[in-house]
Amino acid sequence: MLIDTFGRRAVDLRVSLTDRCNLRCTYCMPEQGLNWLPRHDLLDDQEVVRLVRIAVTRLGVTEVRFTGGEPLIRPGLVGIVAACAALEPRPELSVTTNGLGLARTAAALREAGLDRVNVSMDTLDRETFHTLTRRDRLPEVLAGLAAAEAAGLRPVKINTVLMRGVNDHEAADLLDWCLEQGYELRFIEQMPLDAQHGWQRADMVTAEEILTRLGRRFELVPEPLAGRGAAPAERWLVAGRTTPDGRPARVGVIASVTRPFCRACDRTRLTADGQIRDCLFATTETDLRAALRSGADDEAIAALWRTAMWGKKAGGAIDAPDFAQPERPMSAIGG
Ligand code: 5AD
Ligand code: SF4
Repeated sequence: MLIDTFGRRAVDLRVSLTDRCNLRCTYCMPEQGLNWLPRHDLLDDQEVVRLVRIAVTRLGVTEVRFTGGEPLIRPGLVGIVAACAALEPRPELSVTTNGLGLARTAAALREAGLDRVNVSMDTLDRETFHTLTRRDRLPEVLAGLAAAEAAGLRPVKINTVLMRGVNDHEAADLLDWCLEQGYELRFIEQMPLDAQHGWQRADMVTAEEILTRLGRRFELVPEPLAGRGAAPAERWLVAGRTTPDGRPARVGVIASVTRPFCRACDRTRLTADGQIRDCLFATTETDLRAALRSGADDEAIAALWRTAMWGKKAGGAIDAPDFAQPERPMSAIGG
């Protein structure tokens, strides 16, 4: 098991498959992109699958989410998903994507055993999308969402980061649209993880502001089962609304900064270059790639992973004045 000194158990593995991306969201990376990881440093497909197998068979991981950068640009993705779906016990498998290329790959991913997708989409306005991502590709994202729904990758979830003066006025429209389509929307507070280190606490649209904006159009009721221990409800029921297939309509508001839920964190992260991070904001990593490539056996790798997670900090410090942003940007960690 992957447990830490605070008694948390990590069962949710996030695997970054590449640090590259075909968008350039302003809150993530600069226009010219970043110094991408050299190819040789990346785990190859077999190495990724081996580490997922160790996590699932020896360390109690039950959920595996592939992220990036943009995971759909990894050529071997479908094969990696298929290999992970064949593991015993079979983990839940999902992908966090910006949706580009999803129209083309949704059916193959489903066929390979993918359970769900999370699509990052911050606006429904083509011009705003172009400004925010520096690419004029909103129609492809919308096509990708429809393809995911049609392929049965349900419920399709959408992640939205609101930025003041850019897309924050769209909060209620986005929710309306997602409810009509049957997509589950979650707003995420912008975290200090951009490559440019330009994040400013005062610019961030807080969960409270988001709820206020939504509250002008919708009646939100905290979801009864959503409260995790003492953590505030993250999911809300939208009173009087249901999804097209009759499920209760929901919206998530993830207060990663103002109300961090570190006490309930169940995540462990593997970067594309084979490093274990016990937290998005970790300042240290554990090198599994070196162990893999020097011939370590499964148990030795599992032991390194256990040790890496055991030292996980309590967390909750993002909003503290002495918070230090990690060197690795979000695009090289995975969401
Ligand atoms: N803060 C919050 N969310 C972010 N994402 C990317 N950068 C940030 C950030 N600084 C989101 C993406 C995607 C997911 C992987 O994380 O929009 O939905
Ligand atoms: Fe790409 Fe996601 Fe970063 Fe946007 S936020 S540039 S989609 S990695």
